[in-house]
Amino acid sequence: SAPLRLGIAGLGTVGIGVVKIIQKHADLIAARSGRAITVTAVSARDRLKNRDADLSAYEWVADPVELAKRDDVDLYVELIGGESGVARESVEAALRAGKDVVTANKALLAMHGQSLSELAEAEGRVIRFEAAVAGGIPVIKTMTESLAGNRLERVMGVMNGTCNYILTRMESAGLPYEAVFEEARQLGYLEADPTLDVGGIDASHKLAILSSIAFGTQVDFSAVEIEGIERVSIDDIRRAADMGYRIKLLGVAQMTARGLEQRMSPCLVPAESPIGQLQGGTNMVVVEGDSVGQIVLRGAGAGEGPTASAVMSDIVELARGVRVPVFGQPATGLKKALPARTAVP
Ligand code: NDP
Ligand code: HSE
Repeated sequence: SAPLRLGIAGLGTVGIGVVKIIQKHADLIAARSGRAITVTAVSARDRLKNRDADLSAYEWVADPVELAKRDDVDLYVELIGGESGVARESVEAALRAGKDVVTANKALLAMHGQSLSELAEAEGRVIRFEAAVAGGIPVIKTMTESLAGNRLERVMGVMNGTCNYILTRMESAGLPYEAVFEEARQLGYLEADPTLDVGGIDASHKLAILSSIAFGTQVDFSAVEIEGIERVSIDDIRRAADMGYRIKLLGVAQMTARGLEQRMSPCLVPAESPIGQLQGGTNMVVVEGDSVGQIVLRGAGAGEGPTASAVMSDIVELARGVRVPVFGQPATGLKKALPARTAVP
């Protein structure tokens, strides 16, 4: 069949990672997709920037919105970032122009996932976003495909590697929060706005996305109760360690008698438990289903290779013709999607 032609906007850590995989594994990907995957055109801010990939075969389009609408692009890949602005405008333009969309943009989906999925449905298109939650960990496909025969009962985990790094390092080096925060900044771990990481917002974006998928509810970031790690002191960490515990920024989403509960906060976990053992920038997501019991997924939650790997999984699925929407799937066992905060009888 005809090649699937991509337009990729955003050539930073993730965008360049995707280009490299497409170039390195072209044959493998074609075999797995049943068709070739090619790149028609790319977009970023600075055309002259030195990038770690050969882009000479691709057309340069300065405006991502124009890229998203091109007739010679079948699938728009948004890897710019940001909950609004050009990322949102270009995704909407792509859907309106009849293109499917792949994105890694958790902020965009947490804030506008509902309206974007409604637009996609109205246009008969789909948005896929495996990379938006827990980087390389295939948690969305696990929930929607591998656990399709389950009513999902709880999803929880450590979904921000930067916070996990800071908390782990405070304990191992015996350093105060401020010193480790500064280290993380120098290592380039922090988001441009570090509050997104240490304020628990980035992790809550991811939790809101996962809980919407698990429970068939609308994405409702505003319903997440959030506490970040800024007030965790070295004394808190030492006291926890004395009792055999560690402090982790843990997200939990579960259906209760009061409705959907979504909470992100620093929690005490037994030091010997899988989550207690989680080191550095690693993520862990735990999913509980009524038939399967508990599934634990662990891996790199960020970085060029892991995040691009997840983006590619969406591209390959769409190339294969698997076009089931991820948001808006009724959760198994529920008659229809419930709005967030609705009590379950
Ligand atoms: P970067 O900051 O490394 O790259 C962003 C890219 O977008 C750059 O190439 C930049 O251009 C381009 N860009 C910014 N504004 C515009 C604009 N107005 N028009 C065209 N291009 C623009 O981001 P990442 O690659 O790290 O992240 C991309 C997405 O992936 C984000 O949504 C992020 O949240 C998500 N993500 C990232 C992970 C990671 O580990 N990095 C993990 C999981 C998700 P230029 O290069 O010219 O400045
Ligand atoms: N800032 C995020 C983290 C990047 O530390 O996990 C990956 O989403």
